[in-house]
Amino acid sequence: MSELQDLLKESGYSDKAIEYYLNKVNVGELTEPDAHAIYTGPCGDTMEIFLNVKEGVIKEAKFQAIGCAGAFSSGSALTEMIIGMTLEEVEKIDEELIINYLGGIPRQKVHCTCLSKRTLQKAINNYKEKG
Ligand code: FES
Repeated sequence: MSELQDLLKESGYSDKAIEYYLNKVNVGELTEPDAHAIYTGPCGDTMEIFLNVKEGVIKEAKFQAIGCAGAFSSGSALTEMIIGMTLEEVEKIDEELIINYLGGIPRQKVHCTCLSKRTLQKAINNYKEKG
């Protein structure tokens, strides 16, 4: 295990959260996404989410972030969780579910899951507005 992995683990990130962060799972962009949003949280970090949606179901999801390990690991988890879900199901996902899916993140990083949740909600609102 690298020094960085050790540090992340000591600070409270689960092995799964560390893996997401280091492997940058779903980090990227979609060209011509059906839905897109960019959101800056109260901490000053920013996330951008891209979605492809077909008949009300999420088919593809990617994100970019200017943020911390908590932002990246929750962005990866959330974009992975939502593939195959309907928009209604996605809107029910809360921060607790993201944290459970990750298997744990440091307590002081719990708010980072809000960044991904809020950016995703904004992308869905953008999709609905487009009709
Ligand atoms: Fe801003 Fe983690 S500190 S998202």
